[in-house]
Amino acid sequence: MRKIILLFAIFATVVAMAQDPQPVQINRADLPKPDLCKTPPMGWSSWNTFACDINETLIREVAEAMINTGLYDAGYRYVNMDDCWHGQRDADGFIQPDPERFPSGIRALADYVHSLGLYLGIYSDAGSETCGGKPGSQGYEYQDALQYARWGIDYLKYDWCNTENVNSRGAYALMAKALRQSGRDIVFSLCEWGDTQAYSWARDIGHLWRTTGDVNCCFDCELDFGGWKSLGVLAILDKNEPLRRFAGPGHWNDPDMLEVGNGMTESEDRAHFTMWCMMAAPLILGNDIRSMTKQTLDIITNREVIAIDQDPLGIQGLRYRIESGIEYWLKPLENGDWAFCILNRNLEERTINLDFRQFNMRDNLTNNTFASASHVYKVRNLWTHKDEAASDKVRKVVIPAHDVVVYRLSY
Ligand code: GLA
Repeated sequence: MRKIILLFAIFATVVAMAQDPQPVQINRADLPKPDLCKTPPMGWSSWNTFACDINETLIREVAEAMINTGLYDAGYRYVNMDDCWHGQRDADGFIQPDPERFPSGIRALADYVHSLGLYLGIYSDAGSETCGGKPGSQGYEYQDALQYARWGIDYLKYDWCNTENVNSRGAYALMAKALRQSGRDIVFSLCEWGDTQAYSWARDIGHLWRTTGDVNCCFDCELDFGGWKSLGVLAILDKNEPLRRFAGPGHWNDPDMLEVGNGMTESEDRAHFTMWCMMAAPLILGNDIRSMTKQTLDIITNREVIAIDQDPLGIQGLRYRIESGIEYWLKPLENGDWAFCILNRNLEERTINLDFRQFNMRDNLTNNTFASASHVYKVRNLWTHKDEAASDKVRKVVIPAHDVVVYRLSY
């Protein structure tokens, strides 16, 4: 009997290896803790506005603005340094910050950020160098994870530049293990741009993974830089939507950081923010929150829209219907509620007669039913913050160009 079991085990292993082109052994104890990100992480990152021009004063001021502007109260917690905080490795190989930009060191910065009740994030790369040409973590994974833990880091974004001949799943699993063994709870954000389909294998390796190339601050554009593309809001939306089955509590599709407040129109900013919430995306702000307008602040602190993003079910919304540039999106929420969003991709305003009863449907992925044909939901407009007629009444809806109308339908 034992022999048979042994033979079967060998056979099963051989079959598994044959099916998996990248057999990477992962033990439970090496995995990041999924409950670190039960809902999509919310915070800020330096990259979209400041690129490589960052220093400790900026990070401190941003952390203070997070509190003073009310962003903390709306749920934002992570203050993330992106690329270019790095100096050189010391004689023992430990990475050090740029001594001119971060003269007080990262530990002091983390202490300060923590004293405000916030978390500090850092950035590295699985290759020899980061995308900005700073030292990467390749060959230093355990040392870097240990250094981050000693500094009190809470979040690591791990990029994918300069990784020729590197196995992505192996490289990310290695850093996941190093982070876990550092003894500190560190959110792990994979950033391979979807190039190696991290969404299909990273569920147990990280808490979030980029699904696309870099976001560009425009609503409807795509810029080709030869080797890589930068994508506007709609282009990212189209790439991220089909991946909804891979997302869920503790592991999220990441369609990249927000560009709200960075130059699009108010409509476009509102649509961008709302669609990221409909997709249960991480909400990582990319604007200068020390000097934003009230209009920008109102968008990024709309609690009712944020609640769609942060809903405990953690289900990424689905695009249910498209009619001449008007898209209807639905997202199942807790207690039988639904978010219902109409997106206008057109360059002109559109007026529609909306009858929720025509959208009665079952989400086959999650087995949730939008029972609008048989049930009357309460309807609340999440941008006007007004209760409207119940779901059995037809309504006329005006959706400005590149804008959205979004409702919460309560059971
Ligand atoms: C890549 C990432 C960006 C940013 C830069 C930093 O392009 O996708 O989000 O981190 O690197 O160099």
